[in-house]
Amino acid sequence: SSMALLTLNPQLFHIFSYETVVKRWPIILAGIVDRVRLSRENHNLHSEAQENQALEAKIAEGKAIIEKVSKLKYDMARDHVMEPIPADGELHVDLYNSLLEELAESSKNTWFTAPWLYAECYLYRLLRSYFVQSKFWRDYDPFRAQKLDVFTKSGPSIYGIAKIMSELTIEKSALESDPSKLKVFFQEMIQMCLWGNATDLSLLTHMSLDDIERLQSVGKEMQAARQEFIMRDDQENVWEHISRVKDGRVDFVLDNAGFELFTDLVFADFLVTYTPYVSEVVFHPKLIPWFVSDVTPRDFNETIESLLDPSFLAFNTSPAPSKEQQQNLQQLANRLKKYVTDGTFSLSVPKETPLGGNSASESLAGFWTKPVPYWNMEAYDPELWKLLKGSDLVIFKGDLHYRKLTGDVQWPASTPLGDALGERLSAAHLVSLTLATGPLAGSFPLLSLRTNKADVAVGLDKDIVAQTEVKDSKWRVDGRFALISFLAEKNV
Ligand code: F6P
Ligand code: MG
Repeated sequence: SSMALLTLNPQLFHIFSYETVVKRWPIILAGIVDRVRLSRENHNLHSEAQENQALEAKIAEGKAIIEKVSKLKYDMARDHVMEPIPADGELHVDLYNSLLEELAESSKNTWFTAPWLYAECYLYRLLRSYFVQSKFWRDYDPFRAQKLDVFTKSGPSIYGIAKIMSELTIEKSALESDPSKLKVFFQEMIQMCLWGNATDLSLLTHMSLDDIERLQSVGKEMQAARQEFIMRDDQENVWEHISRVKDGRVDFVLDNAGFELFTDLVFADFLVTYTPYVSEVVFHPKLIPWFVSDVTPRDFNETIESLLDPSFLAFNTSPAPSKEQQQNLQQLANRLKKYVTDGTFSLSVPKETPLGGNSASESLAGFWTKPVPYWNMEAYDPELWKLLKGSDLVIFKGDLHYRKLTGDVQWPASTPLGDALGERLSAAHLVSLTLATGPLAGSFPLLSLRTNKADVAVGLDKDIVAQTEVKDSKWRVDGRFALISFLAEKNV
């Protein structure tokens, strides 16, 4: 059964997870309660004037949701049993619940005893059920305000990147005739996109805005200074691979909204505007609010609109941006919009869209919110797997995708990347999985850009690990270190 995936290796991670359950989740849940309460109170003010029945009903529903979230917070802190996900008409109810039943057999169905990866995915899926079962809060994203708020504060870094892009426009013809120059910019783009991942909001519980600004700053010197924090760096191999492609397609399996999504869009813009290698980019979002800051289809569309709106960032940036800075950004935003309109950029979602996507439909986007490793993507979602096989490079952004790619297993850090991505699952394991498909490794050219925020790390050189240990014993989880991991497609 599918559960075998989780019990395959009992050495799953629990170390950092304890801190998550005890400290971070309660803060995240309290934030949801505040948000719902706030938007209820706003309605309260309104309803006095309007005496609107629908609003009354919405307020009552909001109250019920707050009660559910508060109870969840209580149960979690006391290590209670995790309840089945109610049949709410959305994706994966049966999958989550059958895995939960199997955990119950080994008494691992409580908040502290369940595998960390499962418990975390379950949390966000359960929260979704609270909202989707209501009438008036179905499309409510409890993290939206937070995502927007932090995005509006990224002005300085965003104007900085827009400037780099407009300088590139001037150099366009020089770049075309000189691939070695192109390579330099390509690497700058990869690094920008990598460090964009340092700012996910589920970690914001212990990061200040100053910390974030420091992480976001770009430019050659900053990047050079950060080079020593990249513990595995496959930039050279990625370049070699992509520069052999002509008019190809790149896929971004997105992580966080806001600044990180901006860096993804800029990298994509670079690839199609300035290189002959890529002419199409497909973006893969999450269909439900996920790990606080992950991109939903609505976030994706709003991000481009926000960048087009001259006041969105300018109002929140001090000192106020210059005319030139605003023009640079406008130029970039117009190009992004054009690519979305003409189909150069597309979002991999089913057509109908509540949160901007159709959460009732399984196809293509549903896979990313399953609580399973990606080793057996082919078995879990053959359609998606086939789609990705048509790509010239699939870029997995962020920490959670990395955990799922590697199964969140306690691999020794020197384990070869391919092994951790399913290549060395022994025949016995594959039989017990009853998923008679090949491993993910080698299915398509794969690039993972990840800052380290959870214990799992593979494909590392022993000496580098030893040196890093001395510098920072928390290198696996504190978000200061990063990995650029590339794995080529196997031609069989
Ligand atoms: O809650 C912990 C976690 O799953 C970590 O893996 C990581 O810190 C975060 O959530 C998500 O990070 P990212 O947005 O990079 O996937
Ligand atoms: Mg995330």
